Parts: sequence; C-alpha cells; structure tokens
Amino acid sequence: MERLPLYATATRGTEPFLAEELETLGCKRIRQDRGGVRFFAALDEISRVLVHSRIAMRVLYPLRQFESQGAEGLYEAAHSIPWEDWLSRGSTFSIEATLKDTEHTHSGFVALKLKDGLVDRLREKWGQRPDVDTHNPTFHIVAHLAKTSLSVSLDLSGEPLFKRGYRTATTAAPMKETLAAAMLLASKYDGSEPFVDPMAGSGTLAIEAGFIATRRAPGLKRTFACEAWPSFAPKLKPLLEDIRKEAHAMVRPAPAPLLARDYDDEVLTALKRNVVTAGLPALRIESADATTADPPEGPPGLVCTNPPYGERLGTGGQKGMKSFFHKLGTNLKRWDGWRISVLAGNDAFESAFGMRPSSKQALWNGAIACELIHYPARLPKQPR
Ligand SMILES: C[S@@+](CC[C@H](N)C(=O)[O-])C[C@H]1O[C@@H](n2cnc3c(N)ncnc32)[C@H](O)[C@@H]1O
Repeated sequence: MERLPLYATATRGTEPFLAEELETLGCKRIRQDRGGVRFFAALDEISRVLVHSRIAMRVLYPLRQFESQGAEGLYEAAHSIPWEDWLSRGSTFSIEATLKDTEHTHSGFVALKLKDGLVDRLREKWGQRPDVDTHNPTFHIVAHLAKTSLSVSLDLSGEPLFKRGYRTATTAAPMKETLAAAMLLASKYDGSEPFVDPMAGSGTLAIEAGFIATRRAPGLKRTFACEAWPSFAPKLKPLLEDIRKEAHAMVRPAPAPLLARDYDDEVLTALKRNVVTAGLPALRIESADATTADPPEGPPGLVCTNPPYGERLGTGGQKGMKSFFHKLGTNLKRWDGWRISVLAGNDAFESAFGMRPSSKQALWNGAIACELIHYPARLPKQPR
C-alpha cells in the first residue's frame, strides 16, 4: 500500500514522545520538527494513528509548498492547487492560516486570499462554487506562511484530536489532553501501578491515566474528517471500522487504583462530571489538601500532577507560592515508595519543593514554558 507523507502537530516539547508513539503505530521515516513530527503512513497506519494517538493534536496531509509574495502570490498559489482532485460538488471547506515573520499582519486576510483562489478555480472547473462551513467542513485546509514560504495542507482529523469529548465541565487552567498524555508517557506510566493526581483540577491527567490503564484508545468514539473525503472514504472506512473493533476488544478493567484529588469544592463538582462523561467508574475522586494528605492505602505507584504556577493566584504572590511548594514537598516526602512527576511552571518550584530530581524535560503548557520534573521513589527511613 502506498505510504503518504504526513505531518502530526504536537504541543511544544512533546515531539519526542509523539515520534515514539508513531513508531509503535507502524509509521515510517519519522522526523521530529519543532511543533510536530513528519512521517509516512499507509491508510491502515493512518487509521491507527487517528484512533490510537494520545499525543498528536492534528494529522495533516501537506498538499503543496510555495514561495508566495503579496496578496496576488497567495491567490495564485491557491488557484494552482488541483482542488478538484479532492473536493467534490457538495463538499464544504474552511481555511485556517497561521503566520510567522510575514509581510501580512492578519491571518484572516491570508485565509481570505487563499479562499478566493480555491473558489475561483473550482468555479472555473465546475461552473459553481463550493460552500464554506466553519463548524464542520468536509475539508479543513491548514495554511502556514513563514516569511514567504507557504505550505498548504489538508487536516485529516477534523476536530483536533485533543478534543476527546469528556471535558464537559471546565475549571481554571485546564491542560490539553495531549499534553497530559505526553506527561504520563514521559513518566513511564503504563497503567499497571497505582496513580494519584493530588491537584487534579478538571481531571485531565487522571482521566488520561485512566484511558492508559484501561487501554482505551482516545479516538474510539469519534469520527475523523477524512472519513468523508471522496478519494479516501471507500478504502479508509472499512479499515477504520476494523481498527475501531480491534481497539474496542483491547479495553480492560484498570489493573491498579486511580485517584484524583483536589481541595476546591467547585473544582471537585466539575471533576466528577468529567470523570462520569469519560466513563471511568474506576477513577476515585476525593477532597483533600495536597500539602497535608496521606497517600492512599495500598502499594505505592505514580504521583503525576500540575500544581498552580502562581501567575493567577492573588494572595501571597511569589513568596506565597514558595511556601506552598515547600509544604507540598515536605508532605510528599512522607509518601514512601511513590515516584513523583510534576509539571512546574514556576522557577521557584524545584528549590522550594526540596527533593532531588532524577531527570527533567522542557514542555510548554500553552505559552508557558514549563519543566516536567521527575523524582525517584523514596525508600522508607530505616529505624536506627
Ligand atoms: C493548574 S490546576 C490543575 C489543572 C489540571 N491539570 C487540569 O487539566 O484541569 C491546579 C489545581 O490544584 C488545586 N489545588 C491548589 N492547591 C491545592 C491543595 N493545597 N490541595 C489540593 N488541590 C490544590 C486547584 O484547586 C486546581 O484545581
């Protein structure tokens, strides 16, 4: 089967984990880039990536690369693409443009010029124009203009892959589902050991841990834009159906306990709602203060968490944050045998927390540069 050149986008810092994941899903010629990973995949491998990838945000099929100057250059580029090979009468589309160091200041203007080129070409070919649908288009076209280099791609995913459908209730500062999954994979979590997020917020890390533990493919219950593409659908649909069936059969009960804690009642209400929507009855929820709570009963496992960074906290400022991180570290030092991974977005975290890390990784939570800091399990103190 022919392998297509593709590009999966990723949260900054998660590219190595995405590359690893794509390799296990059978993709070939994998090359990391900043913000994504290039790879080659046949239709069955593409289907696997769409259903199983926990880290990819979108999967793009790059159509063409251009040198483009001025509004005319954008129009000409879009007009030269054989859109009629992809869209058919009745297909809808939308165009999203991102810009980096360009002569244009508005991405909307760039998208508009590209749209004009596409629409004119198809009108010339068909005698009618295709419709724009910004909500649920058959073809979501993604353009990126860096200086004068324009790339135009089709988005196979449709709705981004991080939209898993379980975040019905939101809280302050939730993280992307794909970032949470990357943190867990970076922490070598495979679902076989107990898991605790003591500051769970809307529950992203705990729910993603639940999906890993129960071997639930994140794309099991959703559809993808490329399933409706006339040139892909006849071959892709049966492949996707088989892969969904196979993924369904893989689901198992969680082999070890899963626990999400938070100390805020409103947050706990949202957390409960999300856990129910995610369909993870094995994930326990508790109200507890992370600076004083004991570990849960039973064998130790992984603590993986994303404490507040402080930029939103009114009281105490940076001094208050240092004291909070210190209390958190002092308490978690008592959790004998637990490995700890923390996504820290505050420079004061590491020294205030007070434990010696075994390794660190740079990760971005949106625009915030963070460090994922790993702490090895502490052995119980021997009586003298
Ligand atoms: C940055 S948010 C976590 C966001 C989460 N990763 C998500 O995706 O929604 C930090 C959470 O820590 C909770 N928190 C702060 N201090 C706490 C404490 N001492 N004990 C328990 N939870 C705490 C807050 O209520 C908040 O929900």
